[in-house]
Amino acid sequence: MTVMSDQQGAQTRPNSEPTAGEHGTRHTDLFDYDAELRLHNELFRAAARVGSRDRVLDIGCGTGQSTREAARAAVAGSAVGVDLSARMLERARQLSEDQGLPNITYQQADAQVHRFPPAHFDLCISRFGAMFFADPVAAFTNIGRALRPAARLVLLVWQDRDRNEWASAIRRTLTAATATPTGGADPFSLADPTVTEGILAAAGFTEVSFTDVHEPVYYGPDSATAFDAVLRLWEFKDLLANLDAATAEQARTRLRATLDAHNTDDGVYFDSRAWLITARRHRPPHPICPNHPSGANERLP
Ligand SMILES: C[S@@+](CC[C@H](N)C(=O)[O-])C[C@H]1O[C@@H](n2cnc3c(N)ncnc32)[C@H](O)[C@@H]1O
Repeated sequence: MTVMSDQQGAQTRPNSEPTAGEHGTRHTDLFDYDAELRLHNELFRAAARVGSRDRVLDIGCGTGQSTREAARAAVAGSAVGVDLSARMLERARQLSEDQGLPNITYQQADAQVHRFPPAHFDLCISRFGAMFFADPVAAFTNIGRALRPAARLVLLVWQDRDRNEWASAIRRTLTAATATPTGGADPFSLADPTVTEGILAAAGFTEVSFTDVHEPVYYGPDSATAFDAVLRLWEFKDLLANLDAATAEQARTRLRATLDAHNTDDGVYFDSRAWLITARRHRPPHPICPNHPSGANERLP
């Protein structure tokens, strides 16, 4: 396993998506991950290094910004975005159509079990969409089957909740408690590099490397916008929904105060820590010649 430090600031912006203003109004009730993650996305796109002929699979693509950026780079290739959410995909398809991207498709599917075409993709990417599997080894094994030997995997995942101010501070304001939630989909399930490397190795990936990404998340130009945005995140929406009316009102008041405290001249930001994970699909030993230059003969008896 390789662990590296922050890559802050090392980017150019080829193939980047038009901004919200350029592609029109957004679905107002969907959380705007593209705005939240705009600093992360620069690093993610640079790490993905999509080639012009690549066939790219985007896991948990949401409204598809990363899928469209991949499709733009893969001018002679293609991109497939997969997500569970019909509403996110509806938005993704609309944006792709608006932007006239011919080499892109979206599929509504559970990436853990969906039957992808075998050994088909050159690159699998996921921007915070691969942390929610009930059985991560089964899921990454299934995804691995869809990749050709030595294909690359590039993931962005959150580090621990305690290292993510957006999660810990907002949860504290809404619950006035520090207890870690139990059950449900866990956005921090791939936070531990040792555990995650074990999952990926068991699923047939090698050369696993972790780069520390230390960039703030953005919730909007002012506290009122940020308040609406934060309460579109299921994790926080659910917290409020479980409170009685008076307690929920107190929680909203605390949330407004916390957002005010994070309001800067450039908008509302919270600190965050993520891992940019890269790996390769295992290259199986050459069936005839163990010393084939593929170099992948180490598993032979
Ligand atoms: C945090 S959002 C990120 C969306 C998108 N990648 C982005 O950065 O804007 C996580 C996404 O993963 C999707 N997801 C969760 N579990 C999934 C699964 N088993 N198969 C496919 N998509 C999944 C969710 O529906 C959601 O859209």
